[in-house]
Amino acid sequence: MLPAPLLMNSFLVAALSLVMTRLTCSSLSVSDIPHIAAYFGTKTRYEEVNRHLLRDGLWVNTSVRKSPAAERCTPIHLTAVIRHGCRYPTIQNIRKIQKLSELVRREASRGSDESEGWLRNIQNGWEMWYKEDMDGQLVPKGREDLRLLARRLAILFPALLSEKNRSSGRIRFLTSSKHRCVSSVEAFQEGLQQHWGNQDVDYRHEVNDDLMRFFERCLGYVEGVEKNRTALLEVDKFRRGEEMEGVRRRMADRLGLPQHRLTPDLVEAAFFLCSYELSIKSLHSPWCFLFDRNDAKVLEYQSDLKQFWKRSYGHAVNSMSSCPLFHHVFRTLDKAGRPRRSTEASPEPASILVGHAETLLPLLSLLGLYKDQSLLRASNYQSQQGRSFRTSLIVPYAANLLFVLYDCQRGPRLQMLINESPARFPGLEEDAPLYRDVRAMYRHLLDGCDFHRECEGRPEGRGPNTEL
Ligand SMILES: *[C@@H]1O[C@H](CO)[C@@H](O)[C@H](O)[C@H]1NC(C)=O
Ligand SMILES: *[C@@H]1O[C@H](CO)[C@@H](O)[C@H](O)[C@H]1NC(C)=O
Ligand SMILES: *[C@@H]1O[C@H](CO)[C@@H](O)[C@H](O)[C@H]1NC(C)=O
Repeated sequence: MLPAPLLMNSFLVAALSLVMTRLTCSSLSVSDIPHIAAYFGTKTRYEEVNRHLLRDGLWVNTSVRKSPAAERCTPIHLTAVIRHGCRYPTIQNIRKIQKLSELVRREASRGSDESEGWLRNIQNGWEMWYKEDMDGQLVPKGREDLRLLARRLAILFPALLSEKNRSSGRIRFLTSSKHRCVSSVEAFQEGLQQHWGNQDVDYRHEVNDDLMRFFERCLGYVEGVEKNRTALLEVDKFRRGEEMEGVRRRMADRLGLPQHRLTPDLVEAAFFLCSYELSIKSLHSPWCFLFDRNDAKVLEYQSDLKQFWKRSYGHAVNSMSSCPLFHHVFRTLDKAGRPRRSTEASPEPASILVGHAETLLPLLSLLGLYKDQSLLRASNYQSQQGRSFRTSLIVPYAANLLFVLYDCQRGPRLQMLINESPARFPGLEEDAPLYRDVRAMYRHLLDGCDFHRECEGRPEGRGPNTEL
């Protein structure tokens, strides 16, 4: 037992630090951001990738538009494939968080590092506030993510995302049917209206899961990967491997718990909890002190491994399942770049497509991006330290893949931007190569990449129609 005054004192400190964190909630300074914030994989905030946005959410770098100056190019079309913004945890994660918080409250005691203030802050000051009905929904910060993104894109492409183009109904909005995506596409439209100084928004978007949730309609993918335990063998191995065991041991030490009380699931739950408190409430949560930077890198690798085998280069069908979206994008670009008679209507200036990390990763892989020399495996954590496949950088919340088509003297050119930074088509040297060169490079996909063959193992049009 502690003597009463001391006990009183520690309560005060805990209470006070709680008040302090509440106060700073909305204006978290850059130095208050957890040192592990850039390693949260698909749960990383967009600002961690574009750090200027920490100070100014409307910061835009107009030099990212890179068409050859000598060719007097003008942007004529923008296709944007965008991930939804910050969201609440899904039900499974909420249940894990619940279990973790009960365990720590009841059983955690001394930490080997004297368990400074943070353990007390967890035990006395932190309340389990996540409810099951929050299940994956967009949070207010996530709505803001999309509003700000819309405003920045309108600054970057004023002629395309213009009020006139919007009011004449020529900007197309498509979304996945998931609640968080529908809310995101609404927020994007709100952002545009804010940019033009309007109050009212009449939302105009279509739901299209064939395009934005192709993965769940691809039988070969569902059977071969999603429902197939062996497809993610490398992830299971890493989960039980020495690097993850080390993270678990150190976390148990810090909490003064026997290691067997902490399952790998609970270790992950604590890491995600730190990410959720930051992305949802802008809090530097006491849970973050359970991990140092090296722990975070190991946990990041675990999520990367999972995405790699489940959504990317691990299995060919992962990327091939995105063929419908790939064809949709290129058909839209074809139409926009086609020469027209002056009497013809001008093409669609912009197409905004809102989906998931699971929408973006297969498409990026199909395009050949972020492909490392060797596969990500449980055994090569060390040699993959410099890998390009880092989901924290590729698919944070509000991640976006932009295709910008320019009209130039030598013909249309296409530029790709990922999270508002220029990215090159693999194998092409220029920032904005001629569109016909891009088409030539992807010829094998443009002429193939047949959903029915890739996903159902049969040529197009034959056999029973299994689509809903
Ligand atoms: C702006 O974008 C250009 C082109 O990608 C890049 O070279 C430059 O470093 C960026 N500026 C800042 C301040 O990030
Ligand atoms: C499951 O995955 C393994 C490893 O990728 C593969 O060899 C096997 O064929 C898959 N099973 C099914 C039913 O597709
Ligand atoms: C609308 O989009 C077209 C491209 O299709 C562009 O040429 C035009 O300048 C845009 N802006 C307005 C105000 O119409």
